[in-house]
Amino acid sequence: MRLKTLFSALLAPALLWAPAFAAEVNNTPEEKAMAAADEIITMRSELAREFIKPGAAVDEETFKKVCGAVGKRVKEITEKTGVKIRHAATKNRNPANAADGRERALIEKFEADKSLSEVWEEFESEGKAFKRYTRPIHVEEACLACHGAKESRPEFIKAKYPDDLAYGFKEGGLRGIISVTVPAE
Ligand code: HEC
Repeated sequence: MRLKTLFSALLAPALLWAPAFAAEVNNTPEEKAMAAADEIITMRSELAREFIKPGAAVDEETFKKVCGAVGKRVKEITEKTGVKIRHAATKNRNPANAADGRERALIEKFEADKSLSEVWEEFESEGKAFKRYTRPIHVEEACLACHGAKESRPEFIKAKYPDDLAYGFKEGGLRGIISVTVPAE
């Protein structure tokens, strides 16, 4: 068994109740970036499946356990490891996550090629070299409780996000991207 497979087999199920490992124990910046993206995507998916149940009310408390918990974990990983994590979407909910030009191009690329699962890029900023790892985020059934039809969005979302664009998705659709930036060695 490859080390990474063994690692995910052991750790991924543990993340739900002890979300404090994957992104923090890998060594190279590249491994950290991949582990962080993987952890965040898996975490959101597992939490949505756990807390969105047929017939159960979906409100701000539910949000705090799903995308809200994910946001906190993003901050925690950033503080502990120094990687820079960003979510971006052309149909964004939080205005801070509106895709810029380069992110739009990446989203179009993932949209055009459904089999594309990751993109690595290198770039320079203020004389320093960086690597950026980007993964697509796909919509699952449980996400539709808050990212489905415009009218069926929970009330707190309608009230809190007047410029919301993150609705009207279908299962399997591209919700957006997650990018993790690390220093190039
Ligand atoms: C209980 C409601 C709820 C559920 C369920 C939910 N989300 Fe969200 N999601 C939100 C809210 C509210 C935000 C805005 C958070 C913020 O202010 O940063 C958000 C933000 C996001 C973002 C950040 C980009 C943006 O538009 O601001 C992504 C990506 C995302 N959700 C993906 C998903 C996926 C994928 C699922 C299912 C696995 C999911 N969400 C399930 C409520 C939800």
